[in-house]
Amino acid sequence: MHILITGGAGFIGSHLADHHLAKGDQVYVVDNLSTGSIANLEPFRGHPAFRFAEADILHWNGLTQAVAWADRIYHMAAVVGVKKVLEDPVAVMATNMTGTERVLRAIHAGGWNPQVIIASTSEVYGFNAKSSFAETDHIVLPSAGRLRWAYAVTKLADEFLAFSYARKYGLHIVVVRLFNTIGPNQVGHYGMVVPSFVKQAVRNEPLTVYGEGTQTRSFCDVRDTVVALDSLAGCPEAWGEVVNVGNDQEISIRDLAERVVQRADSNSPIHFMSYKDAYGEEFDDVTHRRPVLNKLKALTGFEPVWDLDNTLDDLIERASAKIRRVA
Ligand SMILES: NC(=O)c1ccc[n+]([C@@H]2O[C@H](COP(=O)([O-])OP(=O)(O)OC[C@H]3O[C@@H](n4cnc5c(N)ncnc54)[C@H](O)[C@@H]3O)[C@@H](O)[C@H]2O)c1
Repeated sequence: MHILITGGAGFIGSHLADHHLAKGDQVYVVDNLSTGSIANLEPFRGHPAFRFAEADILHWNGLTQAVAWADRIYHMAAVVGVKKVLEDPVAVMATNMTGTERVLRAIHAGGWNPQVIIASTSEVYGFNAKSSFAETDHIVLPSAGRLRWAYAVTKLADEFLAFSYARKYGLHIVVVRLFNTIGPNQVGHYGMVVPSFVKQAVRNEPLTVYGEGTQTRSFCDVRDTVVALDSLAGCPEAWGEVVNVGNDQEISIRDLAERVVQRADSNSPIHFMSYKDAYGEEFDDVTHRRPVLNKLKALTGFEPVWDLDNTLDDLIERASAKIRRVA
């Protein structure tokens, strides 16, 4: 199978590349390396079934040809992470919406019909006060222009773009609402909590929890996520649908910090910081983000293999090995 991955040098995209190369597929990655890293592609360098274009999805003139070549497209390229969103909301709006439209338009204009995964996010559920979220739940966004929600709004626009192309042109598109995803290759610079905590714990530095740490999240290992995305893309009943993808184990951020310190056998203290100090402005954090996975399970039979402790142990071991290499 021919697999095109936009944003394939990023965290999830690089695992998709790995997963499909291991299956014997041909993989073509396009990425502008804005948050992704060439180091994530290093394991595939020289692999005869792997190709990489360093390009911006907004301007890439190889897009038409790549789309024509592809049997399946994972559209992962996006500006991700709350810090990035607050720093540059203009880039978020352009990349996340225009990029998706360019990909969909290229597919339709060429008359192609590959399987397509469009990456959306649990952030689209917004301020809905429920403790767990099914695809049919309401989306609740503040009425005032709080830029913190720009990311969610662009992803919601992507969802409607995808449904429009699926409905009007019969494209085989699945929209996936990804909940918090963790694993190797994820970096903490853009506000991702698990890589930050792991790095701090293995260095015996303080872990910083925003707010009181009572907010809960559900973390899915990326090696499970890519299996779910692969199954959904090839599932005709999922085409034209939106599907939650994640793991429904839940943990508070305070407990997560304690768990990481304990599993890393670390001396790190845990500090608390207000959102205002963390982000330089008031910040609407959501209290719960737990996926209801009935739809994903009914469509694909998906069951995660990794639990949180296994993933944390793996990440702690990798981070410790890195320190040993440098020392
Ligand atoms: N990681 C998560 O927990 C999570 C949760 C929900 C949704 N998602 C979605 O999954 C997708 C992948 O996220 P990720 O966590 O791997 O983030 P990531 O930042 O590691 O990956 C995004 C990739 O897109 C690339 N990119 C950005 N703008 C581009 C452009 N204009 N042209 C080409 N490439 C560009 C970046 O360089 C990066 O490699 C994103 O669409 C994100 O919104 C991720």
